[in-house]
Order: sequence, then C-alpha cells, then structure tokens
Amino acid sequence: MNKKTIDGDNNKNPDHKFSGIPLPKPFLIWQSKARLEAFKKMKKNHSGAVRTMPAHLPVLATFGEGDFPVNLTTRGIGLLPKSEVIKEITNDLESTIRETKGKPWPETLSQRLTSIRKFYENPDLFDETRLGGLEIFEGQTLKNLKSNSRAALLYTGAAPAYASYQFNGVVQLINQDDPCYRFLLAARELFAQDAFHIHQIYYPYGYLFYPVEIKDKTPFPRRAH
Ligand SMILES: Cc1cc2nc3c(=O)[nH]c(=O)nc-3n(C[C@H](O)[C@H](O)[C@H](O)COP(=O)(O)O)c2cc1C
Repeated sequence: MNKKTIDGDNNKNPDHKFSGIPLPKPFLIWQSKARLEAFKKMKKNHSGAVRTMPAHLPVLATFGEGDFPVNLTTRGIGLLPKSEVIKEITNDLESTIRETKGKPWPETLSQRLTSIRKFYENPDLFDETRLGGLEIFEGQTLKNLKSNSRAALLYTGAAPAYASYQFNGVVQLINQDDPCYRFLLAARELFAQDAFHIHQIYYPYGYLFYPVEIKDKTPFPRRAH
C-alpha cells in the first residue's frame, strides 16, 4: 500500500505521526461519476436543476474540549488533481474564469462545464492521497483543527446505492499561495454565481484532508439468520 507518513498535529507535536493511505478506488469513481452526472443535469436544464450534491458534501467531525468534544459541520470537500498536473489544470480553470467574466452567467455555463469536466472525467488525474476544501466561517472547526489536526469525514451518497464512507485522518491547513488552495478556489469560483452555491467573497484558508483509516459504511441487505 502506498503509505506516507504525515504529521498528526499541524507540526506542533512531532511525536504524533500517522501513515496516510490511498483513497479507495470505488470512492474515487463514485466522486467522479456524481460530479459528471451533476454537470450533465446542469447542461441539460440549467445550474438551478442541481439542488444538492451529497457526494460533495460530507460531514466533518473535529475534536475540541469539554463533555461533548465532537464538533460536526457539513463541508464541501472533494478531489484534488495530482501534484504533477495541478498547476496546468488550475491555469485552465483560471483562464476560463477570466474569459467568462462579465458575460451573462447562463451563457457561459457550457464553457465552464467543459473546463471542469476535463478534470473529473479522467481518474488518472486524481490525487489518491488527499481531499481538499475551503474554510469560510473561521468558527469552531478551525479552532479545533488549530489545536488538534485529527478529523473524520462521513460521506453519504444518493439512493439507491447510498455509497457511504468514513475516513479518519489528519487535516493540514493551507493558505492562499498553495497550489491546492488555488485549485479549490478556481473550481469554486467557476460556479460561484450558480444557484447551488451561497456566494462568498473570501476564503481565509484551505484545508487538505489525509486519510489514515477508512471504513466502508455503505448499507447492504442484511439477511435473517
Ligand atoms: C451545504 C453546506 C455546505 C457548506 N460548505 C462549507 C464549506 O465548504 N466551508 C465552510 O467553511 N463551511 C461550510 N458550511 C458551513 C458549515 O457547515 C458550518 O456552518 C461552519 O463551518 C460553522 O460551524 P463551526 O463553527 O462548527 O465551524 C456549509 C454548510 C452547508 C449546510
């Protein structure tokens, strides 16, 4: 297995090391398919046709203090391109953002979808070692992650398959000059005005989630004994 040692405490506690493990292939394929289906729906109807994206919106648990230390939030956390292709893919998204800027949003949907699909339809480009998201509110999650970088994600997909995964892992905070932050921002800004996003003007941090432990929580028919 492709193990990589990662720091478990945002560099504050060098004793705390974990071994990162790759994301499961079925998870990567599910993520890709769910995105491509959403893009198809947007192209056929309009972006307002996408009312929810369960594959992109896991629950993130972080750990604080007190009697109930677990803090839960819903987060947009998704795939990242491999480090050897991330700059090229981000440049492409950023140039689409520049070209479509100021033009009527529905008119540019097709161009924006073409740009992002180049990434999602090619699993060879996916980074299997980590997932990424953007921090908006600087609330309890961020406070927790700054003192304890351990976290858990629970993904649950739509019917009928209800793909569901728990990933336990470690979060690394990144700032605006990190190539992953640039990708995450560009991928979000490409759809910033579409109905399924609440428009935000500022993302103080990005975060990278490195899986350390994986549990498949997908339900299956349990037969009577
Ligand atoms: C559908 C949905 C998507 C969200 N996506 C994000 C996100 O990508 N980044 C973020 O910082 N907050 C996001 N939020 C807000 C968080 O769930 C939460 O309200 C926020 O982090 C504040 O909670 P906290 O103080 O426990 O961190 C989202 C909420 C919902 C319902």
